[in-house]
Amino acid sequence: MADGSSETKSSNQMWGGRFASGPDAIMEEINASVGFDKKLYAQDIRGSIAHATMLAHQGIISAEDKDKIVHGLDTILSEIDSGAFEFSRRLEDIHMNIEARLAALIGPAAGRLHTARSRNDQVALDFRLWVKEELQKTEKALTGLIAAFLDRAEEHADTVMPGFTHLQTAQPVTFGHHCMAYVEMFGRDRARVRHAIEHMDESPIGAAALAGTGFPIDRHMTAKALGFREPTRNSIDTVSDRDFALEFLSIAAIAATHLSRLAEEIVIWSTPQFGFIRLSDAFSTGSSIMPQKKNPDAAELVRAKTGRVNGSLVALLTVMKGLPLAYSKDMQEDKEQVFDAAESLELAIAAMTGMIRDVTIRADRMKAAAGSGYSTATDLADWLVREAGLPFRDAHHVTGRVVALAEQKGCDLADLPLAELQAINSAITDKVYGVLTVEASVASRTSFGGTAPSEVRKQISWWRARN
Ligand code: ARG
Repeated sequence: MADGSSETKSSNQMWGGRFASGPDAIMEEINASVGFDKKLYAQDIRGSIAHATMLAHQGIISAEDKDKIVHGLDTILSEIDSGAFEFSRRLEDIHMNIEARLAALIGPAAGRLHTARSRNDQVALDFRLWVKEELQKTEKALTGLIAAFLDRAEEHADTVMPGFTHLQTAQPVTFGHHCMAYVEMFGRDRARVRHAIEHMDESPIGAAALAGTGFPIDRHMTAKALGFREPTRNSIDTVSDRDFALEFLSIAAIAATHLSRLAEEIVIWSTPQFGFIRLSDAFSTGSSIMPQKKNPDAAELVRAKTGRVNGSLVALLTVMKGLPLAYSKDMQEDKEQVFDAAESLELAIAAMTGMIRDVTIRADRMKAAAGSGYSTATDLADWLVREAGLPFRDAHHVTGRVVALAEQKGCDLADLPLAELQAINSAITDKVYGVLTVEASVASRTSFGGTAPSEVRKQISWWRARN
């Protein structure tokens, strides 16, 4: 490249399109975060008001300046709320956008707001406040989903269905019991949410850039004003830490995984082959070409959202894993992952709550399926142990022969004549028919946490008292 002008030209071509104006445009594009962190405006303003109030209380700024700052920030809040605020990408992020507007509104006093703080503790504060609120919303949403399941479980405490392992018919259970399995899962998710709220309930503001400050600030005062239990205890950790975001994403990923398993069951159960449930029109769509179809789109999308949420967790773990203490600009990449996962999770929980409340349970289909596939074989084996004194391994063997016979005759266990059962084992009496029905099978499973309707009702009341 002897020719200077052609070198310039080729560089410009390489930047191309909207970067045609050169490195400044590229820097602005990669550096600016206001496009997404404007979501933090309310938290940023709340944090700044608490900080300014504390500065004035400590005599670090005057009361007049504090009043001007607070008034200006209130004005900005309503400007943003009403859509009148003009965000500028040249001002990089939400913090600088608000500060610049404050200067335009109140003049030099605006410059005093940033005393004894840095954007490093400011962004840590704003983001923590946002995540905390999101966790509180998630807690509520999960409570709604659990309530939906408790209602369906109560309604169907006696409805029998096949229980599966390996998706093969295993033993009869009740639909109420199956619903309660999800109550346990979402109950654990909610416990994790509550724990995370406690865990992150410390205020970052006042850590400043990383080393704290020489100004006589009162971090306990700002912590209290912002609803935190206490201030964080190490200024370096405070501006390096994104555990609260990672915890949110881990919790979201586990909850989304639960939602996805439920979605998968809804997809399977709503097929004509299973026919255990019928989805309401509200949560399914028709096919543009096959008039007979009703597709479980909402469930499928809930299942797919899990991919996004899990992806966000892995993305942020990967961003954080190589960062030396304290703040690095890499950390600006934390927000979009959390925002996207939060939106996906909120929507997935809402859709699932709607589906669970709306779905029609086809108890007749469940019952018919519960009786097929020799689902009461274990009951027969247990009966042989209990009534005929056989060791369980022998009883298992005898039952295997009975199942083979039924298979050969193409009938259910309960349809086999007594004489043929006795030919396999003479200890069998006609009392055995009492345990071969699915109703008898589920009613007998009264162990703590078992599928018997009486036990399921106990678990429902335990949860009702805690929901
Ligand atoms: N926009 C930045 C972020 O989201 C704010 C913190 C900037 N701090 C700094 N030292 N450049 O992380």
